[in-house]
Amino acid sequence: MTVRRILAIAALALASSGAMAQAAAPAVDVNLARNLAATCANCHGTNGQVRGTDVKGLAGVPAANIVSLMAAYKAGSIPNTTIMHQIAKGYTDDQIKLIAEYFAAQKPAAGR
Ligand code: HEC
Repeated sequence: MTVRRILAIAALALASSGAMAQAAAPAVDVNLARNLAATCANCHGTNGQVRGTDVKGLAGVPAANIVSLMAAYKAGSIPNTTIMHQIAKGYTDDQIKLIAEYFAAQKPAAGR
């Protein structure tokens, strides 16, 4: 078998496996909002429900409030932030909207 022939077969295999992977992937990732929101959980609690910390919970906060706070953090217009001005820059506006809608739909933990 010539090197050229081996390369041609490898290229064909790669092309067809790519096509298969595309066909298998769902058109819409139904877990995208939840997964994006999970990146906030270390500090804001699972599903935005904080326990025993000074960081504010996000569960049940109206999506518009979260969106505008994130925009303000991104723009650097909230003074004395420790971390959110950097975190906010890591997400697109579309991603922030998904995250905000996810948290808005969560029930806040009792007493918060
Ligand atoms: C490393 C910890 C950490 C992570 C991760 C984190 N935050 Fe924060 N968040 C904070 C802290 C601390 C504050 C208080 C402001 C500050 O010091 O930056 C805050 C404040 C906020 C506020 C303002 C709350 C209010 O009512 O004033 C919002 C909204 C917010 N975070 C959203 C998010 C979102 C959305 C994510 C995920 C994309 C996220 N945070 C990830 C630590 C974090």
